[in-house]
Amino acid sequence: MANIKFFSGKTTPIEMHRVRIIQKLNLLPIEERLAAIKQAGNNTFLLKNDDVFLDMLTDSGVNAMSNDQLAAMSQADDSYAGSATFYRLEKSLRHVFGTEYFLPAHQGRACEHILSKTFVKKGQVVPMNYHFTTSKAHITELGGEILEIPVKDAFDMTSTCMFKGNMDIDALKKVIAKRGKEGIAYVRMEAGTNLIGGQPFSLQNLQEVSKICRDNGIPFVQDVSLLSDNLHFCKQREAACKDMTIHEIALAFAAASDILYFSGRKLGFARGGGMCTNNKQYYLDIRGFIPLYEGFLTYGGMSVREMEALAVGMIETLDEDVISQGPQFIEFMTNELIKHDVPVVTPPGGLGCHLNARDFLAHLKPTEYPAGSLASALYLISGVRGMERGTLSEQRNEDGTEPIAHMELVRLALPRRVFTMSQIVYAVDRLNWLHQNRNLVGGLKWLDEPKILRFFYGTLEPIGGWQQKLVAKFRQDFGDSL
Ligand code: F0G
Repeated sequence: MANIKFFSGKTTPIEMHRVRIIQKLNLLPIEERLAAIKQAGNNTFLLKNDDVFLDMLTDSGVNAMSNDQLAAMSQADDSYAGSATFYRLEKSLRHVFGTEYFLPAHQGRACEHILSKTFVKKGQVVPMNYHFTTSKAHITELGGEILEIPVKDAFDMTSTCMFKGNMDIDALKKVIAKRGKEGIAYVRMEAGTNLIGGQPFSLQNLQEVSKICRDNGIPFVQDVSLLSDNLHFCKQREAACKDMTIHEIALAFAAASDILYFSGRKLGFARGGGMCTNNKQYYLDIRGFIPLYEGFLTYGGMSVREMEALAVGMIETLDEDVISQGPQFIEFMTNELIKHDVPVVTPPGGLGCHLNARDFLAHLKPTEYPAGSLASALYLISGVRGMERGTLSEQRNEDGTEPIAHMELVRLALPRRVFTMSQIVYAVDRLNWLHQNRNLVGGLKWLDEPKILRFFYGTLEPIGGWQQKLVAKFRQDFGDSL
């Protein structure tokens, strides 16, 4: 991380790259944004990107590529079998992780599908620090169950715990004692734990989990989709990692695990995915599923151009200046929002800045979907698109009751190397205004509620005419500003 001090004493993160290719953005007037969010059924997934100013929905597949990645794409070899591109990607991953075998897949959830097929038997449990939606779905689909055993700080919104993604070691020992080796398909640790606010685990915790798994002969799988943020945090926050290079930390992560898998839409600034291992038996066990579900072993459903970009992006991930840009911007944004009393998840994590919608819109009932309302209101007043990560994202109980989520969050993802500092300052300004006018924001109710994955396709409407009131107040305060 570049050590650049300011004469003013302030610390402002500085981009250690320059922008050489740009994409024009649109910011519609608020009246047109009102029409757009109405048409999208107040669901930010259904907005058209042309109607969005700053797209903070996700960091998946939207990270900026480097000139080296773009150049590498032009040397892609699209042979069905034995492509030179595959061997370049394999070599890159072998260098980064020190693992012998690489199995390609078209994205992260494809790895989860195949790993579940390989390891999960009906009735088995997969202990993990925390689930991701797709990881859970593939395990439960095969009759397995997940068991989340994070440290107790994980759900504490404003904790000072620097490693909220750690696993509770005693809980792991207990589940092994209770279920035995046969009752456990594998143990899963997720780097940069997504759904609790992009929170990291420590290398020490990872190694403790690894030792317990190895002592008991249980496979240990690591989801490294959000690896780059986790590597940065280990270097910054963990004394034992302070003098290690990013590459040394990555190698230590890999050495502790039996299988690493990733979404190349997050890790490596491209798109795609795959699994790495040093265990020949696991490699052989997994291998048969690749041509069945993904594609031949030397492309696994990925485009060869993306594979070239990934090969280069993986090497760039070892550069501290590259991987610190995201977490530093997130930290800046989080701290600016705290200055304005906007409730956010702390400590700042990777992936994005997370708003605590339950506190932001404390006057709403949980069944009025505070995080959904906040995401809708934020788009309306700023053109910023975030993602609801709360009750709307849950599935209704069998008896029709609403399961109220652990956390009611709006995630404002900062795709890596994409946004500039002035865009972050704009988002903070509008969030401050919205927070000061929060009493104008009402709840949402369903118009059309799909049974499965309702948050993707469902449409909602505002309870009462709060959106018009918000537009009127915006005009009163901002005049003819966009
Ligand atoms: N694991 C983690 C930790 C993820 O965050 C994701 C995706 C996946 C696995 C699945 O990977 O999308 O390539 O199939 N997260 C995206 C998000 C969807 O928006 O956070 P994928």
